[in-house]
Amino acid sequence: MCGIVGYIGEADVKEILLKGLEKLEYRGYDSAGIAVLNDEGVVVFKEKGRIADLRDVVDEEVDAKLGIGHTRWATHGVPNQLNAHPHQSTTQRFTLVHNGVIENYHLMKKAYLSNVEMASDTDTEVIVQLIEKFSQDGLSTIDALRKTLHLIHGSYALALLDKEDPNTIYVAKNKSPLLVGLGEGFNVVASDAMAMLQVTEQYVELHDQEIVIVHKDSVEIQKLDGSIVERPAYKAELDMSDIEKGTYPHYMLKEMDEQPAVIRKIIQAYQNEQDELTIDANILDALHHADRLYIIAAGTSYHAGLIGKQYFEKIAGIPVEVHISSEFGYNMPLLSAKPLFLFITQSGETADSRQVLVKIKEQGYPTITMTNVPGSTLSREADHTLLLHAGPEIAVASTKAYVAQVAVLMVTASAYAQAQGKTLDFDVVKELGIAANAVQTIVDSKEEMEEIATEFLATTRNAFFIGRNVDFYVSLEGALKLKEISYIQAEGFAGGELKHGTIALIEDGTPIFALATQQAVSLNIRGNVKEVVARGANPCIIAMEGLEEEGDRFVLPKVHELFSPLVAVVPLQLISYYAALHRECDVDKPRNLAKSVTVE
Ligand code: G6P
Repeated sequence: MCGIVGYIGEADVKEILLKGLEKLEYRGYDSAGIAVLNDEGVVVFKEKGRIADLRDVVDEEVDAKLGIGHTRWATHGVPNQLNAHPHQSTTQRFTLVHNGVIENYHLMKKAYLSNVEMASDTDTEVIVQLIEKFSQDGLSTIDALRKTLHLIHGSYALALLDKEDPNTIYVAKNKSPLLVGLGEGFNVVASDAMAMLQVTEQYVELHDQEIVIVHKDSVEIQKLDGSIVERPAYKAELDMSDIEKGTYPHYMLKEMDEQPAVIRKIIQAYQNEQDELTIDANILDALHHADRLYIIAAGTSYHAGLIGKQYFEKIAGIPVEVHISSEFGYNMPLLSAKPLFLFITQSGETADSRQVLVKIKEQGYPTITMTNVPGSTLSREADHTLLLHAGPEIAVASTKAYVAQVAVLMVTASAYAQAQGKTLDFDVVKELGIAANAVQTIVDSKEEMEEIATEFLATTRNAFFIGRNVDFYVSLEGALKLKEISYIQAEGFAGGELKHGTIALIEDGTPIFALATQQAVSLNIRGNVKEVVARGANPCIIAMEGLEEEGDRFVLPKVHELFSPLVAVVPLQLISYYAALHRECDVDKPRNLAKSVTVE
């Protein structure tokens, strides 16, 4: 999704901006641009495609110490050079980059800009033209910006340059993430600390409806009414080595390989001095006072939430509903008397989930965010946070964060059950350790995964994933992985449901990936496989050790049944990876997708 960088200081700004944008590439984008300001004015470079394409058009000769940059993920207007940011006002006095969506931009255009000829199809251009209009009406830049922000509705993180003022970057934020980074003799702006970690670790978070006036040696945060806000900086706890690929060809491969270590890290992070797993006492208390848990999430996190429902209901005895965030906010079900909300979000920034959090907070209900990013928007805004400890996940397709989500859901449900005096019939620490070892065995079996990908997915147009019980939820995630990165049409189904319609799609050779990790439904899933094989399907059965039968394609090392989602997903991730490689797809940056979707 869109990214913003900005720098004001003494160094050559072009390289800092381009490097910053490269660090944001992982979020997904389709065009990029930078604008630099020096005594001669503003120069804008923008291009459709990758940062490498942008680099090709940036004039090395231009010397400037101040500038802003942007990666765009198209929402209004197709991805092309014209719609790429930065955008300029008609006289080119003002230059702007913007993340988010301005909902009333048509109205604004009609009301204030009817005689302005727009250069792009974007909502962003409306903001910069409004600023110019109000400045021409006689307002100072800050007042013109302020007036514009009062008029526009929607989400924005923006950085603005004024040609007449080569000492300032104006910044504003509402709903979309934005940070100001502090340095010695320079300051920076970034939608994600990762972008500017190359120059500083010190960041100040911004709240909604704040404006910041950034000079090279000072930063002033104001509310929209002009009152000054004092806020201390914090150190971004990110290790540069965590966000480098090292010798791996792709981040996704590195992140899949990290999964055993992530499970072990979670054990450590949630273990107390007596080696028992515990969670924040306030979260235990919130669970204790709730009569129902509402899990809200999107994408892969939603799939982890489905597993979480099993854990909370089976282990902790708490009734759970799992909802897709983009639906929940606008079609809220009848809530129980004492609901507790758990937002699962790797990034902590997903706009669909955040709109639910905002509504739920207005209603005064307690909230928890489970996230991989400390200090992210949903983490800051919820009452409590459960951290995933997976380390930065850069590949767009989520792998280690999913495994971390499932593991932390298990830790939370079982810690709560034990705090309630329940005796569990398994030792969580031991079973998580066994699962970590099992995942290690699978990631060490890459050649076999590659063979499976070649055998089943080399030429197919589509594929189906089936499972029953928790295997069904893992099938949904397996299908999502495959379609995200290989563009093969893939669907996950409950084993028994395929025959109620979708079986019509089975043709000679259609690949079916079937998971068989649950003893109680092991015979049923095998029956479902027979149904599709009878119609020509090519089955790839992945079974848990102890439940395997002759002809199964891969046997998962034995783990406790409740922990099988941690393990069963891993071959599906790897198979998807190799299928995408064979098709020469951009594994880490699949088309049309964004890592962190900050628009609704
Ligand atoms: C995007 C990503 C998905 C992710 C979803 C939810 O669509 O491409 O991989 O699962 O957002 O993201 P979150 O950060 O809220 O878990």
